[in-house]
Amino acid sequence: MGPALEAVRARRSWSKVTDAAPTHDELLTLVSAAGRVADHSSLRPWRLIELRGSDREVLGRAINKANGSSGASDKPLRAPLLIAVVASYRKSKVPRWEQEAVASGVAHTLSLLLDEAGWGVLWRTGDYTRSKAVAKAHGLGKNEELLGWLYVGGKPPRVRPGRRKAVDARHHVKRMPKPKKNA
Ligand SMILES: Cc1cc2nc3c(=O)[nH]c(=O)nc-3n(C[C@H](O)[C@H](O)[C@H](O)COP(=O)(O)O)c2cc1C
Repeated sequence: MGPALEAVRARRSWSKVTDAAPTHDELLTLVSAAGRVADHSSLRPWRLIELRGSDREVLGRAINKANGSSGASDKPLRAPLLIAVVASYRKSKVPRWEQEAVASGVAHTLSLLLDEAGWGVLWRTGDYTRSKAVAKAHGLGKNEELLGWLYVGGKPPRVRPGRRKAVDARHHVKRMPKPKKNA
């Protein structure tokens, strides 16, 4: 079994994490690798925003504003590091959906690399993800959209990994329908 196959099979989401977090430099190493995903026309149509410490309260306030309430949501405090995943659409013949697929690929690959490096990750979204208040708090441009946040922290000790249902690949891999006669 190759190391990539092993890492993919071992990865799981961690909804509860400890206060430990990767350093900025450690993150850069992994982001540099994750950015190597296939990318039509190499547009690099993505960027990441690191939220640490009180940045998470700024997000908490934006979440509440998006929901029409005052104060700050404590949701972002569930991990010491949040990585906002931003699709940054470039002017190109490559359509937006292809560019979003690249940004999504970066997020999945980074999640995998963080998990392999020993960090617990959960990709979170909410009905506020694409709200004006949340976009403003992140300083998004007109050409940008959030894909959610990777919540990152330490894997808590003595937690047995949850059992994940195996994917039955036969249900997901089929052949094309046969062409109809006279078509
Ligand atoms: C785009 C995206 C958004 C997600 N949003 C949430 C979320 O808001 N809350 C949550 O608990 N999990 C969220 N997840 C994580 C999934 O719940 C998780 O991957 C799924 O339960 C399978 O668990 P596993 O990753 O351990 O296989 C999201 C995953 C993706 C890819």
